[in-house]
Amino acid sequence: MIVENEKSLSVEEKEALDEAKISRNEFVKGTKKLYIESYGCQMNFADSEVVASILRTNGYSTTSDVSEADLVLINTCAIRDNAEQKVRNRLNALNANKKQKPDLKIGVLGCMAERLKTKFLEEEKMVDMVVGPDAYRDLPNLLEEVEEGHKAVNVFLSREETYADIAPIRLDSNGVSAFISIMRGCDNMCSFCVVPYTRGRERSRDPHSIISEATDLFEKGYREVTLLGQNVDSYKWENEEKTERFNFAQLLTEVAKINPELRVRFSTSHPKDITDEVLYAIKANENVCKYIHLPAQSGSSRILELMNRTYDREWYLQKIDRIREILGDDCGISHDIIAGFCTETEEDHQDTLSLMDYVRFDYGYMFFYSERPGTPAAKKLVDDVPEEIKKRRLNEIIEKQQGHSLYRNQQAVGKVHRVLIEGFSKRSEDDLAGRNDQNKMIVFPKKHYKKGQYVNVLVNSCTAATLKGEIVE
Ligand code: 5AD
Ligand code: SF4
Repeated sequence: MIVENEKSLSVEEKEALDEAKISRNEFVKGTKKLYIESYGCQMNFADSEVVASILRTNGYSTTSDVSEADLVLINTCAIRDNAEQKVRNRLNALNANKKQKPDLKIGVLGCMAERLKTKFLEEEKMVDMVVGPDAYRDLPNLLEEVEEGHKAVNVFLSREETYADIAPIRLDSNGVSAFISIMRGCDNMCSFCVVPYTRGRERSRDPHSIISEATDLFEKGYREVTLLGQNVDSYKWENEEKTERFNFAQLLTEVAKINPELRVRFSTSHPKDITDEVLYAIKANENVCKYIHLPAQSGSSRILELMNRTYDREWYLQKIDRIREILGDDCGISHDIIAGFCTETEEDHQDTLSLMDYVRFDYGYMFFYSERPGTPAAKKLVDDVPEEIKKRRLNEIIEKQQGHSLYRNQQAVGKVHRVLIEGFSKRSEDDLAGRNDQNKMIVFPKKHYKKGQYVNVLVNSCTAATLKGEIVE
């Protein structure tokens, strides 16, 4: 249509049109300001970087100052009720900005957008746009609708979308470590979890695009990549001709080959899927970090069955034994545990505590159960553990974890660790901080070293949260 119109234009008209195009290109370079805030998991933070990239081609540059934004996007999490409450509070606060700046547009992205869909517009009147995790390519069109004064919604879930070809714009980056999303969605129907409904079916991203993204990051000075997926062990890709196949162990190995100075991490592993092949790939590659995040969720086989985790206590403990056999006691292991799932008894809770005692995890993410509408647990089970019992059990789990974290950190004292410097410590610019292979944060006097460098640090003291030491030259 436009081409036809152009053909019939006079020379003057054509010049005028070209000028308009030039000014439009200037706009494309970024005269409008996008402020984006992310909640929840690392996948969400990675997605926000994809969104920033999509919108850059549409004329938006990012700002970290919300007061100068023309467009505010909140990338939301739906995993627990308190995650959603946080977003609601934030939207209320942003509404105040909207009063001062009537042209300000506000959009919600991510899992809460997907869960609530158009209900969001009814509930939260100040929202202009609701966009689910698979619809980010449509943002430019949706924004156009919003500019025309309409509310815009796209919450279609896709079976193919992986945003493979989009080069993320790194936000809040330390220039040393970056996340790379390797797959999307989840096919495990854990009964407590809303993710299969908010992020759709599992699909794996083309490994070539992953390898080239990691290579590009390395060339730009990054020294650590974390490969992200809801369940990385079920990463599976083949080309259309079915002549080339990749599983997670192969992908890990290929990314590790990019450069020995590039550290490779990954998250999250599922106990039912993590294979010996993956463990041997970790062992074989010096630069693949010896650290596995292996959510347990519970130590009771009865509860695990109700959670539909498809493994039991014994299976989980056998996986732990296998990790220790292949990678040694030095491999860092962390967990997710939910306290007070439906019907959980004191005995089930004791099973969780004793599982923790067996493993002595380095670290853990601990929650009390929060019923999510529409999940199998919400439909079929009764959320019958009283809140004060959930909280008491959670506190016992947290206390136990603190003891274990301290124990594991004490094991690291007196040893030399290879650390990738990520920047200054939180407390002082005289100290630097970085992680060792097992993902433990170590703080040490900076001397003449800078972020992005590897140093050997002799650890001489610790708390449950941090290790302290000195660089050994
Ligand atoms: N309630 C509490 N915690 C949950 N998680 C997932 N769904 C729920 C829920 N409904 C936890 C699990 C998961 C982590 C990301 O969040 O432990 O591994
Ligand atoms: Fe991430 Fe899960 Fe929250 Fe979605 S619900 S943002 S996948 S943590």
